[in-house]
Amino acid sequence: MAQLHPQIPVGLTTTEAPFIEDAVAHGRLYIEQPYDLYSEENHEAWRRLYERITPRWHKYANEHFMRGIANLCLDPERVPKLEEVNQFLCPLTGFSAKAVSGYVPAFLFFDCLRNREFPTTITIRRSDKLDYLPEPDIFHDIAGHVPMHTDPAFADTLVRFGDCAHTAAEIVSRIGDEEEKVRRLKSIIKAMARFFWFTIEFGLMRSADGKELKVYGSGLLSSFGELEYCIESPEVQRFPIQLEWVINQYFEIDHYQPLLFIVDSFDHLFSLVGDLETWMKEGKLDNVSPGEPDISDADLKSFLEADPSLK
Ligand SMILES: [Fe+2]
Repeated sequence: MAQLHPQIPVGLTTTEAPFIEDAVAHGRLYIEQPYDLYSEENHEAWRRLYERITPRWHKYANEHFMRGIANLCLDPERVPKLEEVNQFLCPLTGFSAKAVSGYVPAFLFFDCLRNREFPTTITIRRSDKLDYLPEPDIFHDIAGHVPMHTDPAFADTLVRFGDCAHTAAEIVSRIGDEEEKVRRLKSIIKAMARFFWFTIEFGLMRSADGKELKVYGSGLLSSFGELEYCIESPEVQRFPIQLEWVINQYFEIDHYQPLLFIVDSFDHLFSLVGDLETWMKEGKLDNVSPGEPDISDADLKSFLEADPSLK
């Protein structure tokens, strides 16, 4: 049994953190951030990630993100304390970062967004493998996502995703046939996951003067290599976003994205999430094209067990 509070911190390194293993083993999803456990190597990983990506943020990130970075006052040298991040974040949009021990099933994740809470990974990748990312870490979540949550229009868009999840739970709760219920729910979650992927994680946005493309997707904003690649590479297809395309487009997570979609503004994105919900109610998400992502049993269960009356 690993010691949880040794003299020399054992670290909170991705896939190597006894504290996280212990939380998972005991079924604790929402946790505290045990800040003293971060090792010097963990802080070094943060410092190196932050230092090398900063010039690329200045070049490729959208203006809302850059304002968010300034407003959060992140320390470039040390892994952030969620408590301190929230002191700057909460007054701006009501959002807060909420520490979790691992994967949050889909309905719970969207429901957190609806409550203006962002499930946040607290581990960090190894300092000698900055580009190797088997799963989200605190750099992706805090440096990639949270600066966007300082923007009111973007924050409202995330809340609308949460509304959509509640609408989905309510719609499927009215289906009597169990097999049909699961089939339609899988299709709806797939459509939502694809939309989330091509916007919140990998979205591009036209600059205010319409002449440039800027990045707002957090998967891109937290990747040193892909942040440049997504704008500069001739191998990337970039198209104005179309809802009917995005919900039917599969994606793969283990390589740079060959296809990205562009929104005009966060008001545009907000209205698209409204359209997504309308389409859901009209049954247009019930038969989206097969393929990635796979919808796990935990994701399905989270929707089936949701109480749709919690509006
Ligand atoms: Fe993410």
